[in-house]
Amino acid sequence: MVFIHDTRLPHVLEPGCYHDPGWYERELAAVFRPGWHCVATLDELPREGDFVTRELFGAPLLLRRAGGQVRAFRNVCAHRFSALCLAPSGRAASLRCPYHGWTYADDGALTCVPDPASFASPPGKSALIGRVKLTAHPVACAGQLVFVSLAEQPAPLDQWLGARTHELVTRLFSIDYQRVLARTIEHPCNWKIPVENVLETYHVDELHRGWLARHPRLVPVFDEQIEHELGDGFSEYRDRMGADFPPYRALVRALVGPVPCRYRHHHAFPNLIIGETPVLSFLQVVTPTGPASSRSLVRLYLHRGAPARAWTAPLRRLVGAAASWFLNGVLREDAAIYEAVQTGVRGSDRGGVLGAREERVWAFQRWLADSVTAP
Ligand code: FES
Ligand SMILES: [Fe+2]
Repeated sequence: MVFIHDTRLPHVLEPGCYHDPGWYERELAAVFRPGWHCVATLDELPREGDFVTRELFGAPLLLRRAGGQVRAFRNVCAHRFSALCLAPSGRAASLRCPYHGWTYADDGALTCVPDPASFASPPGKSALIGRVKLTAHPVACAGQLVFVSLAEQPAPLDQWLGARTHELVTRLFSIDYQRVLARTIEHPCNWKIPVENVLETYHVDELHRGWLARHPRLVPVFDEQIEHELGDGFSEYRDRMGADFPPYRALVRALVGPVPCRYRHHHAFPNLIIGETPVLSFLQVVTPTGPASSRSLVRLYLHRGAPARAWTAPLRRLVGAAASWFLNGVLREDAAIYEAVQTGVRGSDRGGVLGAREERVWAFQRWLADSVTAP
């Protein structure tokens, strides 16, 4: 195994960092509010007028496709604060508030006020129409991933993600891939608990006895050829998943041709997680919803086939269903431990310790501690 370290490492973050409201606010200010966050995918908004609603750090968001472009607005009417849409998704020919009927153009500009005479402009004040707009938030896409920022002038998306992560998301979630699973999972724990859980394979034997640990030929997490990379703003785990398992090799060959069997797990700090195999791309974004609660956006994409061959369609359907079933099992087993860890960090009277196998957790914690405490 190619680890960077061969000794144990300090658990950089104190238990309080997993529940203290003051620390949580500092995390939001230092690493979340300035950044970009994947909140949806373009395939959720395929047609004009399609919308989804989301919540990001307490801000209700409305994302809608209009004029071939996805825009994000604060989902709050400028009149008396009603949400414009409450449904998680749908299609709206126009942006019309359900309370008193104020209507907004595709770009968020107020275009219609019922009984406009009662809102006549007082002397010296400009008219509402022509001046009032919904609050818009910056939107940028990479592949089919839609990112939103709550910052007024965020750094460009590719700069925020970094070159390695930007290349990965652009390639792994391109239109060559088709979504086969979309889930939102609420976690009763601080956002770092699900993130740190996926950064180490140390828990696999104990927590995944029923799934991953039972298939060492397909999932070689205790193989000799694992490698870690601790990069600038990211970390990676790489192995040869499936390379020694002939049925898997044959499947990959049928779907995408003679490409090497490899698995890459990439964590872009703070909360973007990507999994890559030759045929499947996995995305998990763990967003904080409070000091001791979080939400995961989970997506699984399957390569459409290279070159696209009609005869592989049934096979792809089968692979999509089997991979979703497998992933759901793994997510369920992981989620089963989160509440116990949250209970533990609240009650701990000491710091923790990390093994060399957990060095990606250590790298993440060091980055977070540096980012939050930077002057
Ligand atoms: S709150 Fe939207 S029109 Fe009144
Ligand atoms: Fe796990």
